[in-house]
Amino acid sequence: MKKILITLLAISAMLSCTHKPMSVSSPDGSLTVNIALNSDGSPVYNVIRDSVTIITDSRLGLTATSADLSRDYKIIGTKTNSADQTWETIWGEERKIRDHHNELIISLKHSSGIMMDIAVRAYDDGFAFRYLFPQQDTDSLTILAETTEYNFTQDHELWSIPWRTEYYEALWKKSPMALTDTVCSPVTIEMADGTYAFMHEAALTDYPAQNFVCSQRHITTYLTPLADGTSAHIKLPFSTPWRFMTLAKTLRQLMASRIMLNLNEPCQLHDTSWIRPMKFIGIWWGMHLKTMTWHAGPQHGATTANMLRYIDFAAENGIDAVLAEGWNKGWETWTDFDFMTPYPDWDMDSISRYATSRNIAIVGHNETGGNAAAYELKLDSIYAYHQKHGIHVIKTGYVSPVINTIDGPQYNRSQAGVRHYRKVIETAARYHIAIDNHEPVMPTGLQRTLPNLMTQEGVRGQEWNAWSTDGGNPPEHVTVLPYTRVLAGPMDFTPCLFSFENPVHPETRAQSTLANQLALLVVLYSPLQMACDLPENYQQRPEAWQFVRDVPCDWERSTLIDGAIGQYTIMARQKRGADEWYLGAVTNSEARDITIPLNFLGDRQFTAVIYRDADDADWRANPYALTVEQQTVTAADTLRLHLAAAGGCAIAIR
Ligand code: NOJ
Repeated sequence: MKKILITLLAISAMLSCTHKPMSVSSPDGSLTVNIALNSDGSPVYNVIRDSVTIITDSRLGLTATSADLSRDYKIIGTKTNSADQTWETIWGEERKIRDHHNELIISLKHSSGIMMDIAVRAYDDGFAFRYLFPQQDTDSLTILAETTEYNFTQDHELWSIPWRTEYYEALWKKSPMALTDTVCSPVTIEMADGTYAFMHEAALTDYPAQNFVCSQRHITTYLTPLADGTSAHIKLPFSTPWRFMTLAKTLRQLMASRIMLNLNEPCQLHDTSWIRPMKFIGIWWGMHLKTMTWHAGPQHGATTANMLRYIDFAAENGIDAVLAEGWNKGWETWTDFDFMTPYPDWDMDSISRYATSRNIAIVGHNETGGNAAAYELKLDSIYAYHQKHGIHVIKTGYVSPVINTIDGPQYNRSQAGVRHYRKVIETAARYHIAIDNHEPVMPTGLQRTLPNLMTQEGVRGQEWNAWSTDGGNPPEHVTVLPYTRVLAGPMDFTPCLFSFENPVHPETRAQSTLANQLALLVVLYSPLQMACDLPENYQQRPEAWQFVRDVPCDWERSTLIDGAIGQYTIMARQKRGADEWYLGAVTNSEARDITIPLNFLGDRQFTAVIYRDADDADWRANPYALTVEQQTVTAADTLRLHLAAAGGCAIAIR
């Protein structure tokens, strides 16, 4: 009864608008988006799922310097489209993705004469909309703000990080919407009725990243500003990024949703044969522990001798590539990096020859210190230099809260920052270079269009366990990320620590067991997956290392077996093109017993190798206690396992 009442109220509210509401429903009819113009000509929408209003009348539109583009419209036409197609990813959590939606495009004419379309897509598991400015007499606009709002019908709770968080490196927190302030996109919502939502943007191109201003039952959009106080300077024709919301009854459905990828344009690269998911190690953790330096000197990490040693370790231990940071000049000041001049103790030619001879790829490193402009102006020569040395992956870095773009100092998530990152990805593609972007703008699914954008940081990663003054990432962290940050795209968290002692900050450490670190290779998705520790630490634990050798980082399909945000996650992934499964389970500071039905397996016998917390494992006192067991399993079996506090379990089923 209550449901029916809410629906009737939503429709009658819209019927008070001057125009009849127009609607688009999802293919199975369970979700409908209604759009109408208010009496002042402002566009509004609402969303009904299973006869329940989720979003009640909420405004759409923008404001520009030349006109208030949130009101004074007339409808001049509508168009509908629908799609049902399945496309194949170049790499990813899933090989095949189905895009099944209905679309309504409403063409509006503003009193100023400006034409704007609103495209709305309805999926069975969510909805999306964007603003489009077709070719017209006006050839450019300066956008001041977006009016886009979301009026919820109930009080929900939000997982989010504050919008000013540098590089998105914060612990995600849950709070009632009413008590949440301005936060970054995305947010994950625990709905009052026990279902879930995920709000983000897709296909962010030449526009600022969105943020959300929250108050009770109400969210509005805040665009990351430019230094001149405006939000975006756009040339027409122009389409804004999509704003989308996934609506799912369960966390498994939330994680299985592919709306964001479907909203991005198909792959634009003709040849993608050179793009390869890889596991890598690197000359890296030593710098974060301060036992090595980035700059040249007695403790210099990126020396020829060290690199050859790392390459040997990789070649002998099932690892595809080696990263080296601190190989190039500029680390003394962090202001004037030179991306084509190695330090004298780094012999690029012989390293590159040796890596090739051992069939190991080099992951290059370009830390800009935030000087994006200097980097951008030399991109072609920098990438030609790397290509000449056989380097096909570069980790980029922008350590600086404000980056110096060719349009001056700006937030990295402003339109100027977004433009820079796009230029980097496009230029890199021409030189057959894939990008691992640190200090990025939050991913929005662009990897569909440009699959050489392989992974990004944008997370409080493992490195915080080396030097954070608050003791390191709490165990809960990795049980929140799969349902929040990871839904925005691949994440370079750098899992797989095998040593928990910290010589420089003894109070800071990875708050996890060894089994938990192994599980992260499956739980936290990245097609470039770094095992972050030192080779000597890996050599000490060959039994655990076997899982790192075996686990792939490109998947046929992926599914959440079970989980709860901030409590635990059990992920299962099938290796791409093989009848092999890998599972990872992690828990927060509570120990727990989990059950894993193996009903996803095919109809035959498999061997499961289980890497679990030993009975006496304890992340503080005995983190290395690992039991490795082997058993024969079939789809009829259910595994019952115990996870220690901050513990985990990794399983290879082949
Ligand atoms: C921060 C990055 O996250 C880290 O991976 C890198 O080592 C340093 N910047 C230096 O570039």
